[in-house]
Amino acid sequence: MDKFLIKGGKPLCGEVHISGAKNAAVAIIPAALLVEGECVIENIPDISDVDSILSMIQSLGAKVKKLDCNTVSIDATTLTCCTADPELAAKMRASYYLMGALIGRFGEAHVPPPGGCNFGTRPIDQHLKSFESLGCTIELDDTFVNIDAEALCGSDVYFDIVSVGATINAVLAATLAPGKTVLENCAKEPHVVDLANFLNSMGANIRGAGTDVIKINGVESLRGGTYSIIPDQIEAGTYMAAAAATRGDVLIKNIIPKHLDSITAKFVEMGVTVEEYDEEIRVKANDKPLKNIRVKTLPYPGFPTDLQPPMVVLLSTVNGVSVVTEGVWDSRFQYITELEKMGVKVSVNGTVATIEGGNPLKAASVCATDLRAGASMVIAALACNGETEISQLRHIDRGYEHIVDKLKALGADIERING
Ligand code: EPU
Repeated sequence: MDKFLIKGGKPLCGEVHISGAKNAAVAIIPAALLVEGECVIENIPDISDVDSILSMIQSLGAKVKKLDCNTVSIDATTLTCCTADPELAAKMRASYYLMGALIGRFGEAHVPPPGGCNFGTRPIDQHLKSFESLGCTIELDDTFVNIDAEALCGSDVYFDIVSVGATINAVLAATLAPGKTVLENCAKEPHVVDLANFLNSMGANIRGAGTDVIKINGVESLRGGTYSIIPDQIEAGTYMAAAAATRGDVLIKNIIPKHLDSITAKFVEMGVTVEEYDEEIRVKANDKPLKNIRVKTLPYPGFPTDLQPPMVVLLSTVNGVSVVTEGVWDSRFQYITELEKMGVKVSVNGTVATIEGGNPLKAASVCATDLRAGASMVIAALACNGETEISQLRHIDRGYEHIVDKLKALGADIERING
């Protein structure tokens, strides 16, 4: 099993190029199943979650060609199968997007409940509720969620909670459903907007993505075309946290500064110097002491839950008590036990973590317990003296493209070793 060996204690300095957004890619690739014709998708991140979802659509009969490591051609014209492979589906959360895509395309879908990072219960009731509102009948058996969408038609859906996955799945299901669909209390994340932009560029009629209400006029078919995925907000935020935790000075390139507003605001409140340019952001934390703060994660445009673990590590490097409240997931502090081996002092009470910052972090041997927890361990390792070993890299590989090369280019001492 591969491991990272990281010798930390050096400020990160230099430039880093942000890849395409994972959570947009894993929605847009299944969306290509709705299209008759070739879709060329650019700026796809070279990560294992993308490989998994590409394998899944290939196993359904889509023709997939990698044109280079960040560009893929998908032609689902001759798709014949509407039953997803249970083994592949178990590898990732986003396999649930095959439900919306297949019912839109076939009027039928058989997809296992999703896998993915484990931070407590991850229900899909809102996804299923939206399918039912759109006229589907759903039955669960031991392996599959079986959806009959013969009677699929436009309708009104009111989500009880704001869910990225349910919003995207409902958009996928409604794109080819006859009539008008109105989705209310939608998620507003940049990748929801990116999915709608992709579908519209292929001929869909979707308005309002990025607001609470999305209106969809069902169209008969979608045509092929070329689309480029937005930059990854969470990867950018991870490098911002790494730059600040090591008291470095990093220019983060190929980003959309607007998508980082909630993150930038918290960094500025801590005393980090953040300079914004058109498609770049410079994070400089080597000129003045940083301050402890309070952070609450919320759906977009709030502070993203996926940056909660990196933020906990960053705040551990700052003198004083900081408080991080998790407002999206019920149980997303499990990784703290592992991080404690590196000297963080955090007490967790339900969804509130109280961080006693300023204690020296120490090198240790740790396991990446999930994707973003893994990223937080990399940041902790970069911020402390000594050599840290991080195992279970499959979690980090799911979402961070070429992380070793990117960190090396910023001056980090990081190696990936076998065994
Ligand atoms: N929820 C329900 N019922 C549902 C759906 C969600 O109760 O039917 C609850 C969840 O339990 C959670 C909250 O609603 O408490 C929000 O969940 P959401 O559905 O928005 O999450 P998701 O779509 O499963 C995506 C990202 C996650 C990210 C969340 C929140 C993908 C593939 N995953 O998950 O990303 O944490 O949105 O922003 O887009 C990651 O990239 O590391 C990651 C975990």
